[in-house]
Amino acid sequence: MYATRPLSVSFGAEILDFQLSDAPAGEDIIAIRKLWAEHKLLLFRNQSFDEAALVGFSRKFGDLEIHVREEYLSPEHPEILYVSNIERDGRHIGILSDNEVGWHYDQIYLPKPAVGSLLMADTLPPEGGNTEFADMCAAWDALPEQTKTKLNGCLANQSYEAFNQAYSVPTNNKQKARSPDIHHPIARIHPVTGRKALYLCPGMTTEIVGWDPQESADMLEFLFDWTTRPEFVYSHHWQPGDAVMWDNACTMHRRDPFDPRHERLMKRTTILPPPHRAAPF
Ligand SMILES: [Fe+2]
Repeated sequence: MYATRPLSVSFGAEILDFQLSDAPAGEDIIAIRKLWAEHKLLLFRNQSFDEAALVGFSRKFGDLEIHVREEYLSPEHPEILYVSNIERDGRHIGILSDNEVGWHYDQIYLPKPAVGSLLMADTLPPEGGNTEFADMCAAWDALPEQTKTKLNGCLANQSYEAFNQAYSVPTNNKQKARSPDIHHPIARIHPVTGRKALYLCPGMTTEIVGWDPQESADMLEFLFDWTTRPEFVYSHHWQPGDAVMWDNACTMHRRDPFDPRHERLMKRTTILPPPHRAAPF
């Protein structure tokens, strides 16, 4: 139905001739859902839409998460999280400033983790701030069989706290209470395609539950190197008008730093799974 252009050998597709602001519905949304599951990451270029349209479009794919960092939410639309280094009236309007942000799955620390994110470029620096994505289904498929056998059925500890210590600012006590460490399967089943994906990330995964600490650290180091090999990674160079929707059940991502003298504002919605496709997974 929609023409597409592949973004990398492994995954990702640009959807051509599509405007989110046209409020697509019905068959159009069914087609986008299929493409999203197939390609894991969809790029919509040359978009011009406001926050209401961003929320309206995102809602076609599931309920939207209100992020725990309420200080960085859009004043008009709390379903939108600002990712930005911009300061207004002495405070940052968004999260994650201008530094490098390490590999992570959005909201992997929730009991029912998000299955998707949609990120829209509002204000971009002239260079830097690229976002890399890793195809965690391909990374799982390519693992040696004995490693898969060893990992099947194992749980890993996911920590938002660890991520904040490395890349962000601390949460307050109320936010901490809403985002405690949690255990999830290392190999998760994708809720739509049924494919397995490695469900861990350097930014938030701290240990394999119940393993000897050294064995756990060695395995995680191996898996972090493995999943970020070039053949599993697509690097996105943002252009004005870009919107990227990724599958948060089978891709992780990271961000390059950029020059702090330039402003950058990205607007993100976070898509939750329907109840019948949430945990356990
Ligand atoms: Fe993220």
